[in-house]
Amino acid sequence: MTSECKLQDYLSVGRDHESRSADMMVSILEFRAKEKDREVHNRLLKELVFRYSAAERELMELNQLKNKFLGIAAHDLRNPLVSIRGFAELLLNGDLGPVEDDQKEFLALIHSASQDMLRLVNDLLDVSVIESGRLSMQIQEADLKSLLENRLKIIQVTADAKNIAIRASLDPVPSCRIDTNRIGQVVDNLIGNALKFSPAGSEITVGLQEVGGRLRVSVADQGPGLTPEDQAKLFGDFQRLSAQPTGGEKSTGLGLAIVKKIVEAHGGRVEVQGEPGRGSTFSFEIPLENVHA
Ligand SMILES: Nc1ncnc2c1ncn2[C@@H]1O[C@H](COP(=O)(O)OP(=O)(O)OP(=O)(O)O)[C@@H](O)[C@H]1O
Ligand SMILES: [Mg+2]
Repeated sequence: MTSECKLQDYLSVGRDHESRSADMMVSILEFRAKEKDREVHNRLLKELVFRYSAAERELMELNQLKNKFLGIAAHDLRNPLVSIRGFAELLLNGDLGPVEDDQKEFLALIHSASQDMLRLVNDLLDVSVIESGRLSMQIQEADLKSLLENRLKIIQVTADAKNIAIRASLDPVPSCRIDTNRIGQVVDNLIGNALKFSPAGSEITVGLQEVGGRLRVSVADQGPGLTPEDQAKLFGDFQRLSAQPTGGEKSTGLGLAIVKKIVEAHGGRVEVQGEPGRGSTFSFEIPLENVHA
């Protein structure tokens, strides 16, 4: 090997060594930069989590305040409204003396307006009580089939007035532990909605079955059905969606929010199925066990 070759070898080894050192330096710098990035990233993440929890806490406090005011307002409005409705009823029935026909017409308007307002105020009170976690339930042993049959008898009058047929398919089921008033409210809301949003001449099917340790109540209608956007909003407060009442009924958009909260307070869940133009089926399930007073 010539001395020139030796020199070239020496230089190339030197270059290799230099380039390896340079690579190492780059890697170390990259690692440090990444570490710095990670530090900055972690600091930002911590800051974000902190701000998010503070905003969430503030929102919860504001929501509690809203519920408190809602509760006070609804509660204080209820008694005067009950009196207005009661006095209108007395006058209408002629209990306080004879009333002319045209006076009766206005009294009937006062009576029905106070009735509507009372219903709204009761719904607001329910939302406030349920959301603030103060819903106390009177749990007792009950037969859900008889409860449904009783509710259907009362609702039949409205169904006849709207020319809507109600078909009941109720299996005999074991007794369950529920708050009968609250579950009655759920049933009234679901069948009430089916009647409210369905056209004359259609049919509603109310079902009751036992499904794997749970009782399932379903209300299927042939109304306008639900778009996916509607389905996403159904159970929120004050949600009036695409379906409109078919008989001029009132629509506040609170019924389903209350339904969901009552069913969940029983350890159950609410479900909905429906496509636009193909009717809707609302159902709820409550467990046969585990409902405590
Ligand atoms: N069976 C149904 N078919 C089609 N749309 C429905 C049905 N039930 C509810 N909806 C839609 O969901 C909305 C919310 O229902 P929800 O029961 O909460 O309120 P509401 O019936 O309008 O008023 P409220 O129950 O407070 O008197 C309704 O306004 C309606 O647009
Ligand atoms: Mg409703």
